[in-house]
This record gives sequence, structure tokens and C-alpha cells, in this order.
Amino acid sequence: MKHFTCVHDIGDLEVAVKEAFEVKKTPFRWDTLGKNKTMLLIFFDSSLRTRLSTQKAALNLGMNAIVLDVNQGAWKLETERGVVMDGDKPEHILEAIPVMGCYCDVIGVRSFARFESKDTDYREVLLNQFIKYSGKPVVSMEAATRHPLQSFADLITIEEYKKTARPRVVLTWAPHPRALPQAVPNSFAEWMNAAGYDFVITHPEGYELDPAFVGKATVEYDQRKAFEGADFIYAKNWAAYAGSSYGKVLSRDRAWTVDAEKMALTNNAYFMHCLPVRRNMIVTDDVIESPQSLVIPEAANRVVSAQTVIKRILSTEIAI
Ligand code: CP
Repeated sequence: MKHFTCVHDIGDLEVAVKEAFEVKKTPFRWDTLGKNKTMLLIFFDSSLRTRLSTQKAALNLGMNAIVLDVNQGAWKLETERGVVMDGDKPEHILEAIPVMGCYCDVIGVRSFARFESKDTDYREVLLNQFIKYSGKPVVSMEAATRHPLQSFADLITIEEYKKTARPRVVLTWAPHPRALPQAVPNSFAEWMNAAGYDFVITHPEGYELDPAFVGKATVEYDQRKAFEGADFIYAKNWAAYAGSSYGKVLSRDRAWTVDAEKMALTNNAYFMHCLPVRRNMIVTDDVIESPQSLVIPEAANRVVSAQTVIKRILSTEIAI
């Protein structure tokens, strides 16, 4: 594997999950694979889980890890070509990226959608600049349109807990006070479709995701109907995608909050969320604290997904 930005980079999912289970069982078996290699983690946006789990994954493989918060202590970066740089940004990303590439062997990048331009967000301009100019393998730690390390961890978690070969998995929109990117739901949809599960997406009208990510999923506007018979409920907020509403909050309707009454409609479903989660907006206290809540095992599996991905990248580099 050269870069990791989406489900297509991981290849056969059954093979990948099997490998992830091996990594989980024996995390230190490959602790010399990354000897004298450096993982650089670049954060343009905040993080708790991704920051810690990706560092831990690199350390388990014997790598060094360096973390840079671009907005805290680094020079402010200009991203557009052709700009006369007489403002408050003293460095251009087109020098900064290759310089970062000089200091490491693998680069992880986190940068959310900016909601200034759907075209810029959905062309993944920043992530692709890292791929083009760093000269190093790039791991997406959540980009504008996808969060593949999260989705891989979600898949591993579902495979661990599922009771049937093809579980019914429901992605539900839930309210949030702020406009959030579509990266997590897009990516989750992409991975659930690739896994071949019975996959349903439910959201209020106006919150339709990019059809390229919805794929074969059933879209059900009635949340209660969607919950019937579900084995897994995956809650997430996202801002509108379609048309001129792109990046806007159209609803904060708490009738969409996941609560115990709705969970009772399911097949004793597990509750999942990528975290951080706004309690009693997205999900009620009793549901997230219930024995069916998988939010902590799901977060723990972020180390497993990251380590499996970095291990593959290091193995590829050694083989070249
Ligand atoms: N789920 C997730 O990516 O969490 P962080 O934003 O804290 O990294």
C-alpha cells in the first residue's frame, strides 16, 4: 500500500479484517518493522482519538512519532497559488509540504472540509497536495470527504460484535448545534457498502449525502422505520451536502436524537458513534451508557486500524 485515503486502498476487506485481528491479538509482533523510521502526524484540525491512536500504532511498530499542530506554533500557511503573499501567511504550503517530507518516512494528515467551496472540499485539494509534493506515503487521518481510519475501526468493531453474517447496519443523522463535515458518514457508507451489509441511511429531507457514497444503501426518511430490526445503529451529524445548502445546518430537531425508546425498535442493536459526541443532542445518556454501547471498543480499535494500515505501508516500502 502506498497511500491510505479510502476503502479502495485497503484491498480485500476480509483479508484486511483478518490482518487487523492478528494485529489486535499480537500488537508487538512487528515492533522492529518501523525501526529508525519516523511517522509525522500533521493536524490542521483538533483531535483526541486520531492523535493518540495513530501515535500509539506507530510506536507499536517501533517507529518514532512527531506531531505538528499547524495552527499552534507553525507558520501560517498560504494554500493558493498565485497569491501575492503580503498578508499574515508567511509560508506557502508548496514549500512546507516537501520540507515536512524531508523529516519523515510516513505522513498522516488531518484537515476537515472548510465549507467555503464544495468543489475544493470534494476534490480533496489539500490531501492531494500532500500526496503530490511530500514524496512520502500519506495516511488520511480525516480529510474533507472521508475518515478511512475511523471507518476501518468501525468495520473491525462490527465484525467483532455481529451475530449474523450480513447484519443490518443503520446510519442515522442526529442533531448537533454546529455544521459538521460529511467525512464520517460518507466514509462509513463507503465501507459498509464495500462490506456488503444490509445498509440503511436515515436522515431528514435535505440531508442527502453525495450519491457516490450512498451507493447501494437504502435511504429511509422515517427514522423509526429505519431502526426496525437493526443490528447496529451508527449515529452521526452532518451538514447539508446538496446544492446551495452545502455546509449549512438545516435542522436541530431533537426528535432525531437516539434514545432508548427508538433503540427498543431494533434487534437489540449495538450503538456506535465515532466520538466526540454531544450527549442528549446525538444520543441520550442512558443509551450511550448502556451495555449495548460500543463507543469505547470502537475508539480502542482506532489503534488496530491505524497499525494495520501503517504496517502495510512499511511492508510495501521495504519490499520496493
Ligand atoms: N473519531 C475521531 O476521529 O476522533 P478525534 O476527532 O478526537 O480524532
